Amino acid sequence: MGEPSALITGTGMSLPDNVVTNADLERIVDTSDEWITTRTGIHERRIERAGKPLSHYAIDASRKALDAAGIAAADLDLIILATVTPDMPIPATACTIQHELGNCTAAAFDLAAGCSGYIYAQSVAKQFLANGRCKHVLVIGAELLSKYLDWEDRSTCVIFADGAGATVMSAGAAPRGVLASAMHTDGSMADFISLPGGGTLNPPGQEMIDQRLHYIKMRGNETFKMAVRSLEEVCREVLDNAGLTPEDVDWLVPHQANQRIISAVGNRLKIPAERCYVNIDRIGNTSAASIPIALDEAVREGKIRDGQIVLMAAFGAGLTWAASVVRW
Ligand code: UT7
Repeated sequence: MGEPSALITGTGMSLPDNVVTNADLERIVDTSDEWITTRTGIHERRIERAGKPLSHYAIDASRKALDAAGIAAADLDLIILATVTPDMPIPATACTIQHELGNCTAAAFDLAAGCSGYIYAQSVAKQFLANGRCKHVLVIGAELLSKYLDWEDRSTCVIFADGAGATVMSAGAAPRGVLASAMHTDGSMADFISLPGGGTLNPPGQEMIDQRLHYIKMRGNETFKMAVRSLEEVCREVLDNAGLTPEDVDWLVPHQANQRIISAVGNRLKIPAERCYVNIDRIGNTSAASIPIALDEAVREGKIRDGQIVLMAAFGAGLTWAASVVRW
């Protein structure tokens, strides 16, 4: 018997009710529906306005994923929440989720890897499932990026959005499960995407607010170019490691960063648009939440089916990039 395989056995998602369209944004910043649509592919996004914290959405998504997997919170051995927008710095929001799920003694921690966070968390979960330490791991990607958006900065406030996605990963038997995964980081480009305030470098306070350091900053165009290059490379890397080629991929489920990035990566890999799952038009860029939200939609729509090869890839702050290939 080889080591156990890490299967994705359940998915769930949760979005704020409040829809913000491009026309709404035209009234806030100097932008246009035409610019946002052609440069990003986004038509509308969800923005949290009900005063609920991140954990509210993460818990809702998690309950749906547990239901879909057919297990109880008590069965979980580990909870990993990928996020850069936790409820608060201390304690980790994963601990709040563990408590609120009820009757759960799983170890729980947050993981920060920007938009690559979900794939990073999936890779960590895979290790614990493969070495037999865990049977069931809850892997969540959730963000309320709107809380840190500068509504005077048209280059960021039109793309980022809020939402949560969750997956249950369980120990199972090959040939299903995660076939290969890879994570990469290059900290020399840390200033491409950052939120400089609120940590120990620029502690919370009036000075931080006066300097507008509590807002997300992004060098979008440079990030865009790096994203296309590294996503192509990391996709080829995991496919090679799994003994597969892009032709074998039934579904590419990419981080929904920008429609033009998704199309460019699809073109380079020669994976046609019909095999690329895209929801950025309705959901926007929800950072670590985007892949688990897309997975949940694709599964519930009956697009992703058992036995299919699903390639996931993400890129984000750090800079970080990561991919995994799964036989569903
Ligand atoms: O989530 C993971 C990490 N993030 C990403 O992967 C995001 C990657 N980057 C992007 O998606 C794109 O770079 C953006 C959508 C953020 C920006 O698109 P771009 O085509 O790279 O635009 P740009 O930053 O090169 O700006 C081009 C022009 C500028 O005007 P000038 O200087 O040429 O007059 C901007 O001021 O577009 C202007 N611009 C806008 N105009 C109307 C920037 N944002 C807007 C806007 N509406 N919302």
